[in-house]
Amino acid sequence: MILVVHGPNLSQLGSRDPAVYGTATLADVEAAVRDEAGPGAAVEAFTSDAEGDIVRRLHAARTDGTTAVVINPGALTHYSYALRDALELLAVPVVEVHLSQTHAREAFRRHSVVSPVVDATITGAGLLGYRLAVRVISSARDRPPGVDAR
Ligand code: DQA
Repeated sequence: MILVVHGPNLSQLGSRDPAVYGTATLADVEAAVRDEAGPGAAVEAFTSDAEGDIVRRLHAARTDGTTAVVINPGALTHYSYALRDALELLAVPVVEVHLSQTHAREAFRRHSVVSPVVDATITGAGLLGYRLAVRVISSARDRPPGVDAR
């Protein structure tokens, strides 16, 4: 099962600053992931504004059959060591996605505290970024044992 996690304020996608984030909603994101993953793949979406809820969901992902995580942590990206540590506990492929090009925005958005513990980071590709994340997950599954991007 691919677990798609969204952090603070991302529930507002569609109407949140469309010039920066586009007009796609979370439902559009989920549909794109499902489409890219294919008909046989299970996809579950989890969205929360609360750091602790996201950390707890990731703990559950260690034993609930989750095979990969796609996560857009929102602003938690830039400061949440708790989220970083929770992601580090996962043995499955993890891809960090940002809709906007965070490196071209405010200075505080240029640094991600979670990037060091994920397999790939995709920034600035909008909705397409989530489709690319699914492709990265598929290629990670084919990686020979012992080859670890971390
Ligand atoms: C974001 C970028 C973050 O800096 C911001 O706090 C978000 C969304 C993105 O998808 O571009 O909430 O993760």
